[in-house]
Amino acid sequence: MPRATTTSNTNTDESTGRYPTDISSSLPARPQIRDKRQISLAAVTCLGATSHPGLLMELDLPEPAPDNPPGPPYTRMVTSIERHWESVYQQNDDELVGWFQAYPALSLRMVQDCTVSADAPIVDVGGGSSRLVDHLLQAGYTDVSVLDLSPTALHLAQKRLGARSQHVAWIEADVTEHRFARKYRIWHDRAVMHFLVDPQDEVRYVERLRHAIPTGGHAIIATFAPDGPQRCSGLPVKRHSAQSMSQVLGAGFEPVRFEYERHRTPSGSEQSFIYGWFRRARDS
Ligand SMILES: C[S@@+](CC[C@H](N)C(=O)[O-])C[C@H]1O[C@@H](n2cnc3c(N)ncnc32)[C@H](O)[C@@H]1O
Repeated sequence: MPRATTTSNTNTDESTGRYPTDISSSLPARPQIRDKRQISLAAVTCLGATSHPGLLMELDLPEPAPDNPPGPPYTRMVTSIERHWESVYQQNDDELVGWFQAYPALSLRMVQDCTVSADAPIVDVGGGSSRLVDHLLQAGYTDVSVLDLSPTALHLAQKRLGARSQHVAWIEADVTEHRFARKYRIWHDRAVMHFLVDPQDEVRYVERLRHAIPTGGHAIIATFAPDGPQRCSGLPVKRHSAQSMSQVLGAGFEPVRFEYERHRTPSGSEQSFIYGWFRRARDS
């Protein structure tokens, strides 16, 4: 597969995001994040636990606005799951976390095997501070978005990329809640869906996926395989087989290929991953 070569950028006029006032207030300004919503702790209404593991509170909020909403900022949930990931990225060297890959070879190969054009929109959900975005830009892809609920993770990636971060759309959001304002040709997720141990969260995830990927689009999803670990980053995970992954995605996503990877963590242990590549068969 030749490297993608188009150089046009469709993201730059969408950089209108705002920043939360609590969890990231200690961070330097991050002008490229375009999907920030103001988090108002004063507006918290505690309604009790939800399906996220360890979630402390839930706010009675309107449906989140889509990407780049016009008008004033609105409130959203502040969850313990966000706090968990914030502290992971704040307290650890991101090259030493278990999922670190200097070169995400299998992800890159699968993206390239989708044979989309260089300016096709690609989103890496739960991308964190992954190096995938660096390598996608390097390969010539010009419309790359990275979504994650940790502002610190996104900021790490932005700092690393420097000026190149201007060419990426940064979305701070929970993938199970986010209403994507645009469509993507490729949805990539490595080690995020497997945290959705509650079936309702999986349903919400697939709703978002179905909304964001039109017919002909691709989903590349990597989770721990059946012989992989039962926990990741201290959280329980749902390990997947080709069959269970296909069942979660449901009708409308046709499996193209599954591949397995023995990931070596920075501490030297091995983890079994399964990568599923699916094609959106119909817009239903
Ligand atoms: C195990 S790390 C994997 C990071 C990256 N995909 C990689 O392969 O290096 C999981 C990532 O998913 C993010 N994450 C977890 N749950 C999420 C959710 N519901 N919505 C968005 N991001 C989430 C975390 O902040 C973290 O960056």
